[in-house]
Amino acid sequence: MYTSEQVKQLQHQTKALLKADMISKNEMESLRDVLRFHEYRYYVLNDPFLADYEYDQLYQWLVKLEKAHPELITADSPTQRVGTSLNQAFVTVPHLVPMLSLDNSYNAADLLDFDRKAREITGLDSIEYCVEPKFDGASISLIYENDLLTRGATRGDGVEGEDITQNIRQIRSIPLSAPFLANGVRQIEIRGEIILSKQSFEVYNEKLIDQGLSPLANPRNAASGSLRMKDPREVAERNLDAFLYHVSYHTGHPEALNTHSGSLDLLWDLGFRTPKKEKKVLQGIDAVIAYCMDFETKRDDLPYEIDGMVVKVNTINLQDKLGMTSHHPRWAIAFKFKARQATTTLTGLEFQVGRTGAVTPVAKLEPVYLGGVTVSSISVHNEEYIVQKDLKIGDTVLIERAGDVIPQIVKVLPELRTGEEEPIIFPKTCPVCGNDLFKEEGEAVWRCINIECEAQVMERIIHFVSKDAMDIKNFGEANVRRFYEQGLLKDIPGIYQLDYEKIGGLEGFGKKSLDNLQTAIEASKQQPLYRLIYGLGIRFVGETTAKTLANSVNHILDFANKTEEELLALEDVGTKVAKSIQGFFHNPSNIEMLKQLEGQGLQLINQKKEAVAAGSLSGQTFLFTGTLGKMKRSEAEAMAEAHGGVIVSGVSSKLNYLVVGEDAGSKLEKAKKINTVKILTEDEFLALLAD
Ligand code: IVH
Repeated sequence: MYTSEQVKQLQHQTKALLKADMISKNEMESLRDVLRFHEYRYYVLNDPFLADYEYDQLYQWLVKLEKAHPELITADSPTQRVGTSLNQAFVTVPHLVPMLSLDNSYNAADLLDFDRKAREITGLDSIEYCVEPKFDGASISLIYENDLLTRGATRGDGVEGEDITQNIRQIRSIPLSAPFLANGVRQIEIRGEIILSKQSFEVYNEKLIDQGLSPLANPRNAASGSLRMKDPREVAERNLDAFLYHVSYHTGHPEALNTHSGSLDLLWDLGFRTPKKEKKVLQGIDAVIAYCMDFETKRDDLPYEIDGMVVKVNTINLQDKLGMTSHHPRWAIAFKFKARQATTTLTGLEFQVGRTGAVTPVAKLEPVYLGGVTVSSISVHNEEYIVQKDLKIGDTVLIERAGDVIPQIVKVLPELRTGEEEPIIFPKTCPVCGNDLFKEEGEAVWRCINIECEAQVMERIIHFVSKDAMDIKNFGEANVRRFYEQGLLKDIPGIYQLDYEKIGGLEGFGKKSLDNLQTAIEASKQQPLYRLIYGLGIRFVGETTAKTLANSVNHILDFANKTEEELLALEDVGTKVAKSIQGFFHNPSNIEMLKQLEGQGLQLINQKKEAVAAGSLSGQTFLFTGTLGKMKRSEAEAMAEAHGGVIVSGVSSKLNYLVVGEDAGSKLEKAKKINTVKILTEDEFLALLAD
């Protein structure tokens, strides 16, 4: 993609731009080139040259310049990935060429059969194949016209898909433009797969679990779900990746496109992530079989999931000659890897108590190697699950890595029972603190409701310091456990009163790590209010709700006086959430803890609100009702607040503006009766802000 000369030049430009006090509009294109280069290094090659903050610094320069000179913004500027429509509807669009799927093969005999048919039709003795991984994600097609990405679509039914261009633009390994014209190609349709790396998938699932939602079974589901999200900005947060592997249509006659391997190389050279390195061109089917088998042994070393290999006839002319059936091409076949399963013995059961007191049974297994990892324990979710699977201690169980990530028990093998197996008895008391366990109606989980329970306290501290909460770097789960067990930390405020002298005495704590820890703890005091709210681990309050909550108050203790009705008026807050918030803030020991944290210098006020109170709508009260068309309610509220407005929760004579969306109900009726309340449409509200 970049010659070493160009790399040198771009590195030089980067340094100059980073050092510059001022970047002028004449340097905008150079700034864009530099940003594109670093995007490519980071997202396509996985080999960045810049620190994140350096990239951000340059990116912000560009944002600033483009703001000052909007007429100079280009469609493929790195800033133009950012989504604009917040609630997109996906339009159905036809593919230029139908997206067929592949026939499957499972063993050498199937591949020999495929090759025999291909040789019969072509009359050749031996065929050249290109073999590459079969990515386990969601397939897409991209169209580039005159070098610009003009459309991205889902597979749909193969003939028509959904236009997801806005979401595709958020994936930074997909270039917004590429020099096809210079290769004689005006229009091209490329197919590929959107994937989520194993690591991003785990991060995503942890988030879901934190929010009390069920984790997804595999990265494929996560990727396809992400592609169809209404808000492109959320797509950007998912860290999706793309592999492009097939040119389905193109104008012009570049020589590289005469073979499949040539097209992967060309796409790679133009800045796309393709399986250039993973693919292999092989003569004859025997070499293909060997390569497929060999790759299967390496699948666990890859950072992303693959579920097999794809074998393709390499020469495009031959592909055309072979043609297709109504379902799949005759020139390609998928070789599916075996499901990863193993049998082992269930040796015991452990009951773990989580942050919210939920008791999770964990099956202990005779360690067994399964797809790259040794599995020695598996969560068995809850009592019902144990009954349903009829698990007994001593049983032989068949286990599988579902979606190749989370191991689970498929079934018991009752024919191997000896009669010595013991039933699993679910405890009636907390295995950590001994208090009685409770089960709420309609729930499957048993809980320890003693909030002083050591296991819960420790898990709450772990959550508080975690990345999405207060993000106290260098703390981490292991240190929380260690300090807690040593008696150096007993609750959340304890984080801010650590005895560093004693910690310094622990093994492995040098001056540097002590300094780092202290600095990180100190820095966390400045974290915005929503992080603190999220960090408190209030049940059902995930990150998004925490943001809404933070925006609705001036000070966190205001929640102690909020009625359930006021809480219900907030976006995303239903009865369950409102009750949980009230439960938290009506508990005197929680209030005591918050006061203690405030005394220690943490941010308990909503700074954003404070800073903007002097805006153009200063002191004016707003209430939003009904469904807004252009933005989420929380965003509209944030905009009003940014101009100094105050959000209130009910219609009264104190209300200045009621902004009504679609299907507004009783609030609108009530407001109509109070003639001091001004009723605005969404557009009128936006116009008011623009004044
Ligand atoms: S080629 C006409 N190559 O597997 C042939 N497909 O079961 C076009 N897939 O729908 C497909 N990795 O979503 C091709 N390297 C690869 C692939 C691949 C994953 C997916 C694709 C396709 C499905 C077929």
